[in-house]
Amino acid sequence: MLHIILFLTLSLLFSPPAKATVQDFCVADLTAPETPSGYHCKDPKKVTANDFAYSGLGVAGNTSNIISASVSPAFVSQFPALNGLGLSGLRLDLAPGGVIPLHTHPGANEMLVVLHGKLTVGFISSASNVPYVKSIKKGDTFVFPQGLLHFQLNDHKTHALALAFFNSPFPGLQILDFALFANNLASALVEKTTFLDDAQVKKLKAALGGTN
Ligand SMILES: *[C@@H]1O[C@H](CO)[C@@H](O)[C@H](O)[C@H]1NC(C)=O
Repeated sequence: MLHIILFLTLSLLFSPPAKATVQDFCVADLTAPETPSGYHCKDPKKVTANDFAYSGLGVAGNTSNIISASVSPAFVSQFPALNGLGLSGLRLDLAPGGVIPLHTHPGANEMLVVLHGKLTVGFISSASNVPYVKSIKKGDTFVFPQGLLHFQLNDHKTHALALAFFNSPFPGLQILDFALFANNLASALVEKTTFLDDAQVKKLKAALGGTN
C-alpha cells in the first residue's frame, strides 16, 4: 500500500506541468475601454521592461492651491502595469502649512512613508471615535486602516514629501470638507446636520466652490 501511495505522490510531483494557468501580468491596454474586471491586457509580446517602470512619483506636484498640497497618483491610468495587481500609490507634496484635509479611502488600507520633512498625521477610529495622532519625520511610516477618516498636515517650516501605497487599485477618496461644502447640498441642511452656524457654512462654501 505504502509504495503505491509513494509512487502516486512521486508521479504527481514529477509529472510535467499542465499548460500554465498562472497569468503573470496584465499590463492595461488603455486604448480599449475598461471592463468591470479591469482593463484588457496589452499583447504580452509587446510588453517590455519599460511597462513596469514609472517616473511620475519623482515629479514634484504644484502646491499653489487652497490646501497648499498636491496629490500625484500612480493608479492604473497613469501606470498601466498596475492593472490586476491589487495595489496603487501616490505622491504627496505639502508646502509649509499644507494639509490633506480629513478624508477617507473607502476601498483600501494606506501605508505612508515620509521621504522629506515632517508631518502630523492621524486617523479616527470608527468604533469609538478615538483619535490616533502622531508626528512623523523623514524615514517614518504610518498606516491608515481602510475607510477611516484621516489627515496629513505639514505643520513645519519646510516642504514635506511622502509616498503612499494602497492595497487596492481603487482606494477611492472622499474629502469631508468637499462633501459638505463643495457641492449644492443646501446650507440649511449642512447647518442642521453638522451643528455649524450659517456664517461658517457660507464661508466654507464660498472658499470651496459650493452653492445653495
Ligand atoms: C502652479 O499652480 C498655479 C495655480 O494654478 C499656477 O499659477 C502656477 O503657474 C503653477 N506652477 C507651476 C510651476 O506649474
